[in-house]
Amino acid sequence: MDAIDLSPAMIELAMRRVPGNVTCILGDVLEYPLPETGYDGIVSNTALHHVSLEAVLPVLAGALRPGGVLAVVALPRIGRGDWLVEPLALLGQWVFGVVFYLLRVLTRRPWYAFNASHAAMPVVVDPPLTTRDVRRIGTDLLPGVRVRRLVFWRYLLVWHKP
Ligand SMILES: C[S@@+](CC[C@H](N)C(=O)[O-])C[C@H]1O[C@@H](n2cnc3c(N)ncnc32)[C@H](O)[C@@H]1O
Repeated sequence: MDAIDLSPAMIELAMRRVPGNVTCILGDVLEYPLPETGYDGIVSNTALHHVSLEAVLPVLAGALRPGGVLAVVALPRIGRGDWLVEPLALLGQWVFGVVFYLLRVLTRRPWYAFNASHAAMPVVVDPPLTTRDVRRIGTDLLPGVRVRRLVFWRYLLVWHKP
């Protein structure tokens, strides 16, 4: 299993936490020589809004074996289609924030508190693409892709390589 990130700080933190069968790679996913059709599955967690989707989807698709699965969670720009989910997300974030704060105080356990990577993590807070944009680009590049907005400021893209 390989894990790739462009940030030395994130790779260093990951190396302290991952099990022995994970190789941490410091590199740019757009340039690193990923093995052609080498992976059964590729998971991207909150990173693809940092790069051009048009550039990265063919790279990841090429690295998947036929029958493999690509699963991406990333941050969408808020679009017109999000008018219902946005108030729900704001309300939910407030409720969960209060509940987890109380649980942290009462149980002295972490309960979704920020972890060590938070301060070092490179973030993009102004993503370029709405979920609708991602669906359009994804459908052009990965026929059969499924893209949907999740409640808490993320979209989910899932593609099964034929
Ligand atoms: C919001 S952080 C998420 C980090 C990690 N995936 C997680 O969930 O904790 C986004 C990460 O994408 C990485 N990143 C951005 N562009 C990249 C690229 N071209 N190749 C590899 N990693 C990249 C950044 O270095 C950053 O660590």
